[in-house]
Amino acid sequence: MADAREYHERTKHTPRQFSEMEFELDFDNQPRPSKVYADLPRRSLGAVVDPAETPALSAVDTSTAGSAGGARTSMDGDALTTLCHYSNGVTKTLDRGGQQVAFRAASCTGKLYHVDCYAVCGDREDTDAGVYQYDPESDAFHVLREGDYRGVLADAAGGQTGVAEAPVTIVATSTWWRNAWKYRDRTYRHAFWDSGTVLANLLAVAHAGGRRAEVVLGFADDPVVDLLGVDPEDEGPLALVPVGGDDPATDVPEVDSIDPEVVLDSDPVDYPLVHDAWDQSTLLEGDAAAAWRERFPADDAAADAPGVLGTHAPGDGERVELDPVDAETASARPVGNTIRRRGSSREYTHESISDRLFATVVDRSLAGVPTDCFDGGDGVLDYYCLVHAVDGIESGAYQYHPGSTCLERLGDTDRETAGHLAAGQSVVGDAAVNVYAMADVDALVERFGNRGYRLAQLQAGVELGRLYLATYAHRRLGGRGFTFFDDLVTEHLSPRASNQTPMTLFAFGRPA
Ligand SMILES: Cc1cc2nc3c(=O)[nH]c(=O)nc-3n(C[C@H](O)[C@H](O)[C@H](O)COP(=O)(O)O)c2cc1C
Repeated sequence: MADAREYHERTKHTPRQFSEMEFELDFDNQPRPSKVYADLPRRSLGAVVDPAETPALSAVDTSTAGSAGGARTSMDGDALTTLCHYSNGVTKTLDRGGQQVAFRAASCTGKLYHVDCYAVCGDREDTDAGVYQYDPESDAFHVLREGDYRGVLADAAGGQTGVAEAPVTIVATSTWWRNAWKYRDRTYRHAFWDSGTVLANLLAVAHAGGRRAEVVLGFADDPVVDLLGVDPEDEGPLALVPVGGDDPATDVPEVDSIDPEVVLDSDPVDYPLVHDAWDQSTLLEGDAAAAWRERFPADDAAADAPGVLGTHAPGDGERVELDPVDAETASARPVGNTIRRRGSSREYTHESISDRLFATVVDRSLAGVPTDCFDGGDGVLDYYCLVHAVDGIESGAYQYHPGSTCLERLGDTDRETAGHLAAGQSVVGDAAVNVYAMADVDALVERFGNRGYRLAQLQAGVELGRLYLATYAHRRLGGRGFTFFDDLVTEHLSPRASNQTPMTLFAFGRPA
């Protein structure tokens, strides 16, 4: 495979490929949605407590949540357990036709839950330093290593300040087979979407508690692989999220090789494209990670220059100014309650939603993700809204400009077309609004290499997770992530989006 551009091209969905698809799911060989070690000790590091009462709408809003720079530095065992629970834990078990079905904090394609969270911790009053794997079902942690290995991560991240000073860094991974069982070669995309929704929750809970937290994409992969004792043919690290600050690791210990035995319940089928795409985007050492990060423009103005990140400044289309509600008037539903009640609505009425509700959801969710490449801002994505039923806004295709909180009209759309674009899922056209995050993959790979593709998919995944939270912060709204026919979406939004391809789709409205 040439590079991430080819991976993206080869994994596009088209109507023809859908109609000719002969693949059938093998339910006798379905992997379980969590990792089981043969003989690692498991330990409780604390209790799940209610996260801070901060409204979800404030917690997801980078412009007010203090982005990466929350002041609170410390993390105790309860805070760590709570953070992992509300990001990747089992938050409810529902009866579905007589069967008990477990649901997780964050939405995941196919409900396959292939993302795991590891915590690399320093010594704290109530918890020993170590490298731990969070078990979503018990809220306890498997002990992979004892001792303070944070310096290894700091080194791998080229000395990035967040990682270098955090008392705890969470590492998100994907076990490819657990998603590839259904999605095959598409799993490399899904790895970033589904870790993105987990990280959206993680950032929201950390920021709600006033803690610094950001997404770090620039790190050398092999040292992280070795530290976690995983085999990247099976499971690859995707992102680091340092949480808290002011607690630098003092040394970089030797990392002995470990190979913890994992109990398999199914026979993994290899999809080499997935591992190859991940492997092609690895960074070799900390210096390379730092150099990669340096390639990003230092400020938003430089980033917005045409062609740099492949995004579009406002054009001369008709503008619709949006008026999101202020923090005092907005829904005050706390982040913990929002995560617990979150679902994925399957049906929508055609009833319209208020323009201010719509404006509030997009305003809070799309205010920028704090990363090691840029702190908030538009990042590498543009947002397009297909509006079907919002009070006072004519149905149509629009570009949403977060900087000026306005929609710019691009053309017409209709519910039937919207359902067709979403891989023929008519429910998407039933929703009031569809939000597409789009990236110029050619420009990103050209400028930032294959790692730039990881960034675009992950930013879109985090924002999808934030759209979920901002939607479910409201009593009468529901939403869901969806897949799509890539090139048809580009065509529908062209000429504006002719250089771009969709990363994610979120639809929301009034649930039926
Ligand atoms: C990135 C993403 C894409 C998704 N795509 C689809 C889709 O195309 N069709 C669909 O019915 N559900 C889709 N889903 C919804 C998941 O199937 C749903 O989240 C999962 O069943 C778990 O249920 P929950 O969200 O209620 O926890 C998607 C979810 C995510 C995160």
